[in-house]
Amino acid sequence: MKTIIEPFRIKSVEPIYFNTREQREKILAAAHYNPFLVDAKDVLIDLLTDSGTSAMSSHQWAGIMQGDESYAGSPSFYRFENAVKKITGLSFIIPTHQGRAAEKILFSTLGGPGKFFVSNTLFDTTRANIEYSGASGVDLISEAGKHPSIPAPFKGNLDVVAFENFIAEKGAENIPMCIITITNNSGGGQPVSMQNIREVKAVCKAHNIPLFIDACRFAENAYFIKLREEGYQNKDVLAIAQEMFSYADGATMSAKKDAFANIGGFLAMNDEHLAQECRNLLIITEGFPTYGGLAGRDLEAIAIGLEEVVDESYLQYRIRSIEYLTEKLYNAGVPVMRPAGGHAVYLDAKALLPHIPVHEYPGQALVGALYVEGGIRGVEIGSLMFGKYDEQGQLIPSVLELVRLAVPRRVYTQSHIDYVAEVIIEVFQNREKIKGLTITEEAPLLRHFTVKMKPVS
Ligand code: F0G
Repeated sequence: MKTIIEPFRIKSVEPIYFNTREQREKILAAAHYNPFLVDAKDVLIDLLTDSGTSAMSSHQWAGIMQGDESYAGSPSFYRFENAVKKITGLSFIIPTHQGRAAEKILFSTLGGPGKFFVSNTLFDTTRANIEYSGASGVDLISEAGKHPSIPAPFKGNLDVVAFENFIAEKGAENIPMCIITITNNSGGGQPVSMQNIREVKAVCKAHNIPLFIDACRFAENAYFIKLREEGYQNKDVLAIAQEMFSYADGATMSAKKDAFANIGGFLAMNDEHLAQECRNLLIITEGFPTYGGLAGRDLEAIAIGLEEVVDESYLQYRIRSIEYLTEKLYNAGVPVMRPAGGHAVYLDAKALLPHIPVHEYPGQALVGALYVEGGIRGVEIGSLMFGKYDEQGQLIPSVLELVRLAVPRRVYTQSHIDYVAEVIIEVFQNREKIKGLTITEEAPLLRHFTVKMKPVS
């Protein structure tokens, strides 16, 4: 088989500003060893997130010029609405400025104390919006999803038996919704199978619980189904996506991922009464229902992005790039989550830096080493992000200490990815030199964004 090439030519470029190892050491120290406090211009390859960082196509940029900025009834809204309906088949489409705005509206409407929202794994903002309403979020990931280094085709699946047991324990009347995250971001970008969606739907239906999809990376999930699930090899990705959504009563989406947009999102559903309630809130917080916190030009970009993302030569390149990097690392002995997810490579920092105890944050230490070695910015997903303190002030660590390297869509070429692999392997070979970190300043919530740290002496 020949090399899978980037299925695009580059028309517009942005410079990367090179700096030296010595400069990066100083930059990282000045940023208190927190990658969120490093200026983007000081980063060579930015893998902090795949959200809002896509390269838009010339077609999308042309669409931006055609955006109609009417306050009400803009034709750009109708193009957006049609694009979302074509993929999801859902009846009521509500634009929002990004994914978490859709979540805020949905969970303010359906949440509240004593209620439980069940998921494979809730993303942080989804969980935060559920908890902010007074309700609880419950993650019921399948057994395969709990083992980062043991490959399985659909490690994002929801544990259907655990779901049934949970319903028996809490009562269906206290579960306003089940929400499946596809692909499962917090679980390594791992896909959910069609069979699992179907089985979850059957349980939901039997108990009258609506099924929603957190659809940020729906196209990547659909492509994994095509590659890995019996009976889907000859179906096109659009048809697979349509089937996934056919089991759903609604969806939330951040268009900053699989719609290639730099901003945007939506909330969609079949229940007219719920849609009305959500639109009432939308008007207070986001805007009129035909723009919902977005400019007409953003709605155009999303509509076009949703058409482009189901293109299979794009998805082949996309999924292959992540797999290519994962394989290179695995072959060099670097501990990495397997199989590769859809949007990011996850390094297992606990296995990579066994000499750094969890209370010295091995994930964050690895993030710092990657930056100093090669100007690569990733993010810790471990005890810095999820750790809590017990009553004695001792760290209750997270189960896993991971570093996520999320790959922006259509932005980096194969030589960028080769460079990333070289840097990681270099860091891996010199891993004994990496030191742990201690916290010097932290916020009570979501501390990883603003934390200040220093190396242990
Ligand atoms: N759901 C999932 C699965 C996500 O990954 C995100 C964002 C959201 C919801 C919220 O969307 O950012 O538009 O408000 N994930 C980004 C990330 C931030 O880096 O993984 P948003």
